[in-house]
Amino acid sequence: MSLHGKVAIVTGGNSGIGKAVVLALAAQGANIVIDYVANPAATDALEQQVAGLGDRAIGVEADVSKVADLQRLISATVEAFGRLDIMVNNAGIETRTSVLDTTEAQYERVMEINLKSAFFGTQLAAKQMIAQGSGGRIINMSSVHEDWPMPGNTAYCLSKGGMRMLTRTAGVELGPHGVHVVGVGPGAVATPINTSTMDDPQKMKVLDAAIPLGRMATPEEIGAVVAFLADEGATYLTATTIFADGGIMHSSPGL
Ligand SMILES: NC(=O)c1ccc[n+]([C@@H]2O[C@H](COP(=O)([O-])OP(=O)(O)OC[C@H]3O[C@@H](n4cnc5c(N)ncnc54)[C@H](O)[C@@H]3O)[C@@H](O)[C@H]2O)c1
Repeated sequence: MSLHGKVAIVTGGNSGIGKAVVLALAAQGANIVIDYVANPAATDALEQQVAGLGDRAIGVEADVSKVADLQRLISATVEAFGRLDIMVNNAGIETRTSVLDTTEAQYERVMEINLKSAFFGTQLAAKQMIAQGSGGRIINMSSVHEDWPMPGNTAYCLSKGGMRMLTRTAGVELGPHGVHVVGVGPGAVATPINTSTMDDPQKMKVLDAAIPLGRMATPEEIGAVVAFLADEGATYLTATTIFADGGIMHSSPGL
């Protein structure tokens, strides 16, 4: 695999899955723009790690729930590296609230950060890729919950269900331009978003027992899937989702 000469943006790129994606793409030779909203020190440290792999990374502070920030992110990428080949819409949050108790503010925040960001991230990245004329890869960090209900996390499931249809519809529209749109659907991954579960041994026991592979994924295992989708090996994939869930979707409905 080689991504030498390619340029990638990873949103929410300085922690968890995003950080692993940055390192997996850099390991294949891509230059990277790390989008972040918190913890600039983590972004600085990650830039150094990427430099250690022989590539360049720059951090850009941009709130992906705002279209103007997304536009600034793309412009900063083209200014720094001259092009954009891979857009990873990874930033996301969850509220862990049910359909009965989710507030309007919680609903809007989840939809803006998880879905609106991916919609306009896809739109703006595709415009840049089409202008370049050499296609590109847009990878949406979805979840098993694009398909699989999670009681007590309704808005999150809704946002990922919307992302599923974004991936399919944009994939169909953009295919003729050589722009591939693919979703990645992780199951449970050991990252900060799951701190409350990971801090509770009883919850971890139930979760591990429900996963056919017997454990959560590491962020690096999801980064490896994204690196594959970004590379030339994945030339015939678009408008679909690749699930990396240890088999949980087919073994524990409703967990
Ligand atoms: N960890 C899991 O089990 C799991 C499973 C399936 C899908 N996912 C998805 O993976 C993605 C990454 O999550 P993670 O598990 O690495 O957790 P994480 O909390 O480490 O990562 C989320 C990132 O998004 C950033 N972010 C939040 N709001 C933002 C905004 N407005 N603009 C830009 N960045 C913003 C955060 O600062 C953070 O860096 C999310 O989309 C999540 O839904 C995670």
